[in-house]
Amino acid sequence: MTIRTAVTEMLDIEHPVLLAPMAGVAGGALAAAVSNAGGFGIIGGGYGERDWLARELAAAGNARVGVGFIGWSLDSQPELLDLALDHAPRALFLSFGSFRQYRSKIDASGATLIVQVQTVAQALEAVADGAEIVVAQGTEAGGHGSQRATLPLVPAVVDAIGGNIPVVAAGGIADGRGLAAALMLGASAVLCGTAFFASREALSHPNAKKAAVAGAGDNTVRSSVFDIARGKDWPAQWNLRTLRNAYSDRWIGDTDTLQQNAAQEEVRYAEAAAEGDTDIAAVIVGEGVDMVRGSESAEKIVNRTVRQAEDLLGGAKAFLKP
Ligand SMILES: Cc1cc2nc3c(=O)[nH]c(=O)nc-3n(C[C@H](O)[C@H](O)[C@H](O)COP(=O)(O)O)c2cc1C
Repeated sequence: MTIRTAVTEMLDIEHPVLLAPMAGVAGGALAAAVSNAGGFGIIGGGYGERDWLARELAAAGNARVGVGFIGWSLDSQPELLDLALDHAPRALFLSFGSFRQYRSKIDASGATLIVQVQTVAQALEAVADGAEIVVAQGTEAGGHGSQRATLPLVPAVVDAIGGNIPVVAAGGIADGRGLAAALMLGASAVLCGTAFFASREALSHPNAKKAAVAGAGDNTVRSSVFDIARGKDWPAQWNLRTLRNAYSDRWIGDTDTLQQNAAQEEVRYAEAAAEGDTDIAAVIVGEGVDMVRGSESAEKIVNRTVRQAEDLLGGAKAFLKP
């Protein structure tokens, strides 16, 4: 018995598990490993470093993967979309911005257009603009996001748009329990970032992987501190969930001062990130980090998640008593 959904059909994949396009973390090797395990890997095009993207597209080899971009950042380098489309990705994944202007190019390429949203209103807009799959991302997620929680957001998005457009659940899903629950909410797949952050193939710094494995969901926080420190000009409606560390403890609540010292802090932060100093550099994971307890292969993570969900779904009748 295997789990079949609208998303496994559309993307022609074996398992309804999608790798989130994590900037700087989800490279070609990780995306390929997830796809080769029967899920769907998406390279994190992130802030659009051209050389990085070209290298990681090559590293994916012949695996059928997708490419993700951060909308507002892509707007300043739209030529990166051409670079991605030249590699004939199976899907294009866009978050955090509008994508209307890219739609005809993506359509012409034959790639499936996946759009990640944080509210029901954004989901309706995404469908009106031509999204073929909508990812409903709850605030539990690692990385950038907004305020609504996955559990009520997913069914609300399904009810609003779920007729013909499949919905994928994201945010706090890091094992088969989350996958089974997401399917019950009406989702057709899950998108996981945190679950793969410490995986062997991830490009995260080894110290960051260690911190994630030791990390706790209780100890994550949303803030704009690390965006200021990285010099990333994020629109105010989205902020970043990370593990708390000495740096976030120092600056949360004092971001005006951080902003005033931005020039020197950017240098200090970049050095810390390169060295893997996790007292300063962000470990970008979500509340699901409680379920990340080792650095495993992506294949093992996909397989365990799917088997666990299948077992749970198979046993669900046990809840029903005459
Ligand atoms: C390290 C990291 C980097 C991320 N970078 C991006 C990104 O560049 N673009 C994007 O659309 N989403 C990004 N996200 C968010 C994911 O797309 C996804 O919504 C999230 O990982 C799902 O929640 P989870 O982390 O609980 O699995 C990132 C998430 C993480 C953990």
